[in-house]
Amino acid sequence: MQQNGAAALVAKRRERAAERWNLDRGVVLVPAGLMLPIAGTDQFHEYHAHPEHQYLAGVGQPGGVLAFDAGEGWTLFVPQPDAAERVWTGDGPSLAAVGEASGLERVQPASELGEWLERRRGEPLAVIGNDDLTLRAAEYGVESWASLEFATDDEESERLRAVVAELRRAKDPRELALMRQAAAATHRGHMAGIRKARAGLSERALQIEIEVEFFRAGAERTAYGSIVGGGPNAATLHSTPTSREFGEGELILVDAGAEVGGYASDVTRTYPVGPRFEGVQRDLYALVLGVQERAIAGVRPGVEYKDLHLAASVEIAQGLVDLGLLRGDAEGLVERDAQALLFPHGLGHMLGLATHDAGGCLEERPPSDRPTLRYLRADLPLQPGYVVTIEPGIYFIDALLEDPDLRERYRDDVAWERVDGMLDFGGIRIEDDVLVTEEGAEVLSAATPKAMDAIEALRAEGLGA
Ligand code: GLY
Ligand code: MN
Ligand code: MN
Repeated sequence: MQQNGAAALVAKRRERAAERWNLDRGVVLVPAGLMLPIAGTDQFHEYHAHPEHQYLAGVGQPGGVLAFDAGEGWTLFVPQPDAAERVWTGDGPSLAAVGEASGLERVQPASELGEWLERRRGEPLAVIGNDDLTLRAAEYGVESWASLEFATDDEESERLRAVVAELRRAKDPRELALMRQAAAATHRGHMAGIRKARAGLSERALQIEIEVEFFRAGAERTAYGSIVGGGPNAATLHSTPTSREFGEGELILVDAGAEVGGYASDVTRTYPVGPRFEGVQRDLYALVLGVQERAIAGVRPGVEYKDLHLAASVEIAQGLVDLGLLRGDAEGLVERDAQALLFPHGLGHMLGLATHDAGGCLEERPPSDRPTLRYLRADLPLQPGYVVTIEPGIYFIDALLEDPDLRERYRDDVAWERVDGMLDFGGIRIEDDVLVTEEGAEVLSAATPKAMDAIEALRAEGLGA
């Protein structure tokens, strides 16, 4: 079969997975997932194909199932709408078009999956991808799931899933091309946001200005619910945009990313409502930016992501001591997790077909309960082709800073008289998407300004100041 470049790369992913799975016999199913109904309506939630299906099939039709038979290889089953469905939702892609995009020779209607499985009755079966297949088999075209008597092996399914997660870490050229497109669309949106923000505009209105540019620039979706927080709302790590209007003198935190071809971009910028960062905003912004830039400078093959996180934690602790918000020696503060009161998340995560992409932590490294490490979503040595976010932040979060137990535990570590006066400050996060290269790193989101003077110039221009 003649394959285009993209399809050949997808075929290569399947080849590598099959080689690593090393199965003598049996069947692996990788469902994309079905549309999820919104209860009480005749509508559906926005659809997102399971990343394992999207990765191995290169396409992501709702109800699609990629099937692997150890003897015969790969077949993709894709639902074909009947006449009534075509009236409402259209024809959908033809089997031939799916074959071309996926590089698969065998693409069959989903209605043939039941029969395909029947011929393999009783064989060892592993299911990865979306686990709705076993619950909603009939909707996948498999009426007789329970009677097929497959010997399913959950441990084996986990082993196969872990192989795919590992393969997904280093992005291939097709994936990187899509991630660059996503980053370019994200840049357009953030630039609109930085230019259009002003006092009196609501978080929701700014979200719209940003997202419209994502879509104009080719995004198919937002990679995650856009986070737009003004003033105190910027302290909520995943703050949903509200009708609250930005006030003079506040900071705005925007964490928003476009998605292209299923691939995410995840970028945060923080900027003033007015033309300039003022007072302690300047100090804290400079601290977060310095920490972020040094962490990015540390990205190269072989470096442990956790070491970057711990170094950033110490630098944040030191910076907060220098600014009179924490007390003591930085290493000791991090040992006691005191900086996690103000930097309560990890340095970042893997990025790809999910915003918090699979494979971030090596299996033998379970997450720690320590506040400094609890939300560290990546713990592995970096390798060329990995894409990670680097996103330190400092926040004044009521839920932590007003907690009586934490206040007691950190009585001597925190300058409470200063911190208590900043509970309305909000927060600052700066986040970029970083590709690990052979030599070091490339910042995929580098076009979006973050230097204080560059942001101030854009804000002044946007405000006509
Ligand atoms: N946008 C979610 C995150 O930064 O992890
Ligand atoms: Mn983000
Ligand atoms: Mn992120």
